[in-house]
Amino acid sequence: MSPADAEVQRRRWRALVDERLPEAASGRPDWPVSRNHCFARILLDNACGGPWRESVAPPAWANMPPERLDVALALGEAVLEGRQDLAVLNHRSLLWRRKRPVPKPPASLPGDGFALRRWRLADDAPFAALCADPAVMRFFPAPKTARESQTEARALARRFDEDGFGPWAVEAPEGFVGFVGCWRPARPLPLGALLGRETGLVEIGWRLARPAWGRGFAIRGARLALADAFARCALPEIVAYTADLNAPSWRVMERLGMAVVGGFDHPALPEGHPLRPHRLYRLAAADFLAGDAA
Ligand SMILES: CC(C)(COP(=O)(O)OP(=O)(O)OC[C@H]1O[C@@H](n2cnc3c(N)ncnc32)[C@H](O)[C@@H]1OP(=O)(O)O)[C@@H](O)C(=O)NCCC(=O)NCCS
Repeated sequence: MSPADAEVQRRRWRALVDERLPEAASGRPDWPVSRNHCFARILLDNACGGPWRESVAPPAWANMPPERLDVALALGEAVLEGRQDLAVLNHRSLLWRRKRPVPKPPASLPGDGFALRRWRLADDAPFAALCADPAVMRFFPAPKTARESQTEARALARRFDEDGFGPWAVEAPEGFVGFVGCWRPARPLPLGALLGRETGLVEIGWRLARPAWGRGFAIRGARLALADAFARCALPEIVAYTADLNAPSWRVMERLGMAVVGGFDHPALPEGHPLRPHRLYRLAAADFLAGDAA
């Protein structure tokens, strides 16, 4: 960006947070804030995916990378036009700053013709059936026994109590068809070099019964789960990974707008195993939000 363009961008920013948003606030009693520095905090935090001072030295208008300031500007315009909910953006900023506790997970997240919901004991049988299906498990080392599936279902359901989020059960018109959602990786993976950090990873994943494929449950369910994880839980970034051979799964990642980070060998699989080469994707809260704002 040329110095002249950068100056225009900064002027737009100052006009947005010092004048346009505070002026609009006088007609918006539902907005949680009305002062310029509060608008700046909310927009900059959401553009950075966390407290902005953790990644940018103050003053933000001078030091923020221009593409991030563009995201903050787009969010501000979306707030003014009613396309973004300022209360949600503020909630997320306060969660990141640890000024609010993570609210408890809801019982369900409604979708169009399906829902994501908390697990029930009655899900054991259909979950065991799909985990025993060699077609569903063709990109896993092996199908699972009923006992292994039950143990996994209990562990997945417990994530909600431990972390406040987890892999949701997918409720289709015919009943339980699998899971979609976010969780902390159960085992350490060699992702530090690719991501630039080792800790705090949260991944998203999905496993659906064969009759549920091709109906958009993975992509639409993932969008609901991501919106919840980024808004209610204020997670800054979510990753996803799958075997190179698992095209149906990485196609979902790409349709979600996740960016490929690189490849790695899954440490649980031996050298030469066809499922060992994996690809890693990431999605930042700020980019998901910018997609929403566009
Ligand atoms: C990975 C998996 C969940 C992907 O399932 P999927 O059916 O391909 O993905 P979706 O549920 O998002 O459905 C997308 C498809 O539904 C279609 N679709 C139908 N209605 C739709 C709607 N309303 N919205 C979006 N897509 C819709 C899309 O066009 C797309 O079909 P296409 O791939 O032929 O273009 C599934 O293959 C699976 O469970 N595999 C086994 C387990 C597994 O490997 N898990 C991943 C481990 S990393």
